[in-house]
Amino acid sequence: KKGQIIDNFGRLHNYLRISLTDRCNLRCFYCMPEEGIELMEKESIMSLEEILSLAGTFRSLGVDTVRLTGGEPLVRKNFGYLVEELAKMGFTLKITTNGILLDKYLELFQKIGLRKINLSLDTLDKAKSVFISKRDYFDRIWKNINSALNRGMEVKLNIVLIKGVNDNEIQDFIELTRHKKLTVKFIEFMPFKGNKWDWSKGVGKQEILDMVSERFGAVEELENPKHSTSTNFKVPGHTGSFAIVSTITNPFCDECNRIRLTADGKMKNCLFANSETDLLTSLRNGEPMENLIINAIKTKKHSRDGMDVKMEADHYEKNRSMISIGG
Ligand code: GTP
Ligand code: 5AD
Ligand code: SF4
Repeated sequence: KKGQIIDNFGRLHNYLRISLTDRCNLRCFYCMPEEGIELMEKESIMSLEEILSLAGTFRSLGVDTVRLTGGEPLVRKNFGYLVEELAKMGFTLKITTNGILLDKYLELFQKIGLRKINLSLDTLDKAKSVFISKRDYFDRIWKNINSALNRGMEVKLNIVLIKGVNDNEIQDFIELTRHKKLTVKFIEFMPFKGNKWDWSKGVGKQEILDMVSERFGAVEELENPKHSTSTNFKVPGHTGSFAIVSTITNPFCDECNRIRLTADGKMKNCLFANSETDLLTSLRNGEPMENLIINAIKTKKHSRDGMDVKMEADHYEKNRSMISIGG
């Protein structure tokens, strides 16, 4: 149909992930190369007005859901203004954050109806969190998780599983769902530029399920909303639930409805897409955006930007680092 973002596989794209910055107050090793990244220049980053203008165009093309990502989205200056303006545009808003600065925004989130918060927390062990993220914010993050839960927000903990690092905590995370109304979401380790990916360090969906059953018995399969990136489960009797994002062992690209916008204004058709469409430059040149976006989606590949099951290094090393995509 005219005026909608539909790819050559008939997939309607109504979900936009906007990365607000490539900066972050943590240094998680699976996300950011050890040597750091070359930070974007200020002029090449979308201004707040440019973000709102592009978001408006996507809105007019049928996008109704926006997830804010980073780097760490909450370190973006005037974040509060931005999120309020986006709410006024009628989007369902969600955020993926490391939770450090969440205390400053919970009240605002409640006011504008932002209820879905995905929060990276790879370990329940304070010392290990310092090892993974090179910073010590564990207690503050925990406090913020509890404040969000107390306000009735829908909290999902994002756990990137790495063998020998946190795979021994799968059962502890499940234990957390016994009394807490949250979702623990286990994520298969994915390859990006400079993150030294090697699937032998990854933990796959079946392995995770086996670990859970070993301790908690048979699990209940929950319904998976259409377009969901995770399969959802629950241990019978537990208050919370758990989920698995299985990009490596069970890709879920068939129903993909996602578009990504990087902090420097490039549209990415897929998390693993190497080619990008420079929306920001066109916007600054006063060019019309609608057709640019509609045509860009026609170049979308069916799955994982065409990478086969093995995930090829010569492909993903040409991608960005995760920190400058936003997940
Ligand atoms: P919802 O928007 O609630 O569905 O959450 P989400 O799981 O899609 O988003 P989140 O930002 O919490 O990301 C969790 C993990 O899923 C991260 O590792 C993301 O990189 C990954 N992820 C998010 N979207 C996609 C996607 O479209 N494809 C793949 N392969 N992974 C994704
Ligand atoms: N593999 C899988 N997930 C990752 N994330 C960051 N880097 C990786 C990776 N290499 C996840 C974090 C964060 C989300 C946006 O992306 O859990 O919450
Ligand atoms: Fe920062 Fe999140 Fe990346 Fe960790 S995973 S370095 S918290 S952007």
